Amino acid sequence: MTATTTVFDRIESRVRSYSRSFPALFDKARNATLYGADGREYIDFLAGCSSLNYGHNDPDMQAALVDYIRADGIAHGLDMFTGAKQDFLTAYERIILKPRGMDYRLMFTGPTGTNAVEAALKLARKATGRTTVIAFTNGFHGMSLGALAATGNAGKREGAGVDLPGVHRAPFEGYFGPGVDTADMLEQMLDDPSGGIGAPAAILVEPVQGEGGLHAASAPWMQKIERIARRHGALFIVDDIQAGCGRVGTFFSFEGLGVSPDIVTQAKSLSGMGLPFALTLFKPEYDIWKPGEHNGTFRGNNHAFVTARVALEKFWHDDSFAASVRARGEGLRTRLAAIADRHGMSLRGRGMMQGIDTGDGATAARICALCFENGLIIETSGGHDEVVKILCPLTIEDRLLNRGLDILDAAFAEVLGSAAARTAAE
Ligand SMILES: Cc1ncc(COP(=O)(O)O)c(C=O)c1O
Repeated sequence: MTATTTVFDRIESRVRSYSRSFPALFDKARNATLYGADGREYIDFLAGCSSLNYGHNDPDMQAALVDYIRADGIAHGLDMFTGAKQDFLTAYERIILKPRGMDYRLMFTGPTGTNAVEAALKLARKATGRTTVIAFTNGFHGMSLGALAATGNAGKREGAGVDLPGVHRAPFEGYFGPGVDTADMLEQMLDDPSGGIGAPAAILVEPVQGEGGLHAASAPWMQKIERIARRHGALFIVDDIQAGCGRVGTFFSFEGLGVSPDIVTQAKSLSGMGLPFALTLFKPEYDIWKPGEHNGTFRGNNHAFVTARVALEKFWHDDSFAASVRARGEGLRTRLAAIADRHGMSLRGRGMMQGIDTGDGATAARICALCFENGLIIETSGGHDEVVKILCPLTIEDRLLNRGLDILDAAFAEVLGSAAARTAAE
């Protein structure tokens, strides 16, 4: 570490986390490359935890934002009407909603994913007059208390310092292995007056669990969960904050799964450029808010309206970008399967959100640390941090994707080779 970084040790809180895994000083980035202040280059397989699906500093978004700022465009406008907001809404309606036959209202929440989830939970409770929300094992929905209650991870939950009520935990697909249908299990418990679950306000699910270990729900399981929600008068909420915006090869991760959520949350890559920006979408019949009932000073970031509109126009005007992501996802699967097979491990995830389950957190941490030494930024996921997870920008250059996968392959070989050598020596 250089002398300039000591200020982080002196006055920045211990709560920081990513800087522990990647203790370099970064100052520039372009697409899938991060540059250290010392000029060292790193390939980015983390992409702001899926906030940079279109890479760092996309030139078209950057130019539009610079022009907007130079022209004294409104930076902060509470939730007042602005030209930037009008243009974003028009583009979202034309490029996203209409072609998919989706009829949703857009609510700009506070700019973080967790606030979009809070709004979704509040709305479901308000619409049904019920309190219990069903959320799943390994689900991750954010750090504010309502969203944290729906989050499974014990380490995060312990930070709350208070009880986290109002959520019933149900097993995600595959939680008990392939022989147990966890949707049937949930249905039976809800049908049974002595099942112990109160009438639910909502069922909240991630189609691919981002932080919880890349468990990907199948279409039949998602359809069953939706049907259960409807049968029990609960709203069906999809948290698309990490898996959405193209990450799995479609704009919404639930497209193609045969479901139609009542509420959808979006954040992360929605702004296109890493700016804070979040949305809660819901079917028009649930637009029952009183004005200002879910308020916030930073709802609707006008700079993000500008870049998000450019992202929609540039990447989503037709299916070519999505098709390229799907093709790259196939290629990624082939490469990862080869690594996983070599070490007797299994693959997780879908599209450009895949990883390898190493079986334990210590192994995954050693692999990621070695990757970082060799210029690749990559993180873990899962209840035990046991999955090495690839979340590179969807726009990554082929050369860098392959180079990053070579570094990853070598790190698996070195860490697992030395682990095998240690076991043999013992
Ligand atoms: C699925 C999901 N929901 C909600 C959140 C919370 O978003 P934020 O960190 O912007 O509050 C995350 C963050 O990783 C997430 O992956």
